Amino acid sequence: MKNNQNFYYGKHYIDSKDINNVTKSLKSFLSQGPQLINFEKKVAKYFGSKYCVAVSSATAALHISITAMNLKKNSKSYTSNMTFVATTNACLYNNLKIDLIDINLDNFNINLDQLEAKLKKLSPKEKKKKKLIIPVHFGGLSVDMKRIHDLKKKYNCYVLEDASQSMGATFHKKYVGSCKFSDIAVFSLHPVKSITTGEGGLILTNNKKFYEKLLLLRSHGLEKSKKNHWQNNMLFLGYNYKITDFQCALGISQLSKLKGFISKRNKIAVFYKEKLKSLNINFQNFDKSRYTNAYHYFIISFVKEVSNKKNKLFLNLLKKKGIYLGKQYLPIHMHNFYKKKISNKFVNSEKYFKQSYQLPIYPSLSKRNLEYICDNIISASKKLNM
Ligand SMILES: Cc1ncc(COP(=O)(O)O)c(C=O)c1O
Repeated sequence: MKNNQNFYYGKHYIDSKDINNVTKSLKSFLSQGPQLINFEKKVAKYFGSKYCVAVSSATAALHISITAMNLKKNSKSYTSNMTFVATTNACLYNNLKIDLIDINLDNFNINLDQLEAKLKKLSPKEKKKKKLIIPVHFGGLSVDMKRIHDLKKKYNCYVLEDASQSMGATFHKKYVGSCKFSDIAVFSLHPVKSITTGEGGLILTNNKKFYEKLLLLRSHGLEKSKKNHWQNNMLFLGYNYKITDFQCALGISQLSKLKGFISKRNKIAVFYKEKLKSLNINFQNFDKSRYTNAYHYFIISFVKEVSNKKNKLFLNLLKKKGIYLGKQYLPIHMHNFYKKKISNKFVNSEKYFKQSYQLPIYPSLSKRNLEYICDNIISASKKLNM
């Protein structure tokens, strides 16, 4: 089959409604205005949380969400070793200690047995101190949030969901973002995510105190007097993490397409699973009666070990055909910056990283595109005896 396109693991989808919405908004407010208020209201309603704060990125969202929790310096934070560096960086911005947990090899999410074992081992003094758990819903699949909620209560933790990759996913029929089992959840609006505003992030919570603090943290920590428009007073150290009104105009029209996007992603996943079933691979495994996957990634994980040489050959063979597979992420403990701080072993993360790839998955892929991608993946993996 001939092809003259390039396929990356993710790509945004923008239509004329999006463009019209942005164009209209450009004639009114540029920074914070009515589109922001409207977008936040719509997001909170859609996902079933009480409050939403829109900011400039999910990284900013993670940063100030932790700040709002006001944890003591050197408090412990627990998260998956298989995440984007933004998750752990946000803990460091807030002077927290990071304790990384390995992943499961069936769903690639945080191993909750390991997390629980660590919490159990804490001294009585440490058990009393407030701690933070950041479950990362990897590739669009929610972590078992009921179990996280039990741990939160039992071990005195806040829970911040890094849902950057999982807008549109559900757990027990509730949208990720409803914060039914957590204190705060964060979405990313980067172009490869479920919906986009170019760059952007969303913070959802049911906690009024956090919400009010987050509004101030987004804008320098400045409180505006309700009585006198000229009076501003900085209450604490904040940031400029504002999102623009025209980004929010884009967010509103993108949100109206979310259901369609997630349905298309799920159809692509069904197609891949069927077409690639002859390969010696595993897919992200989950119980369909409890979870819907937002399929930010479609992951294939080879059963046999993939050597560095084979990995390079495989990726390059496909690159020659215009197929750029994803290799997300280098586990946190393997980054030069983090290597110096972390000495633990993470067997599953390393295995996952060596043997797994993300296939193109985004709304505009046609059946013909998918067939082309599958044919080339099958022939490359057969050629390399993977
Ligand atoms: C798990 C996770 N956390 C945080 C982020 C950061 O998102 P943003 O690019 O919006 O700052 C990403 C983005 O890729 C992510 O995948």
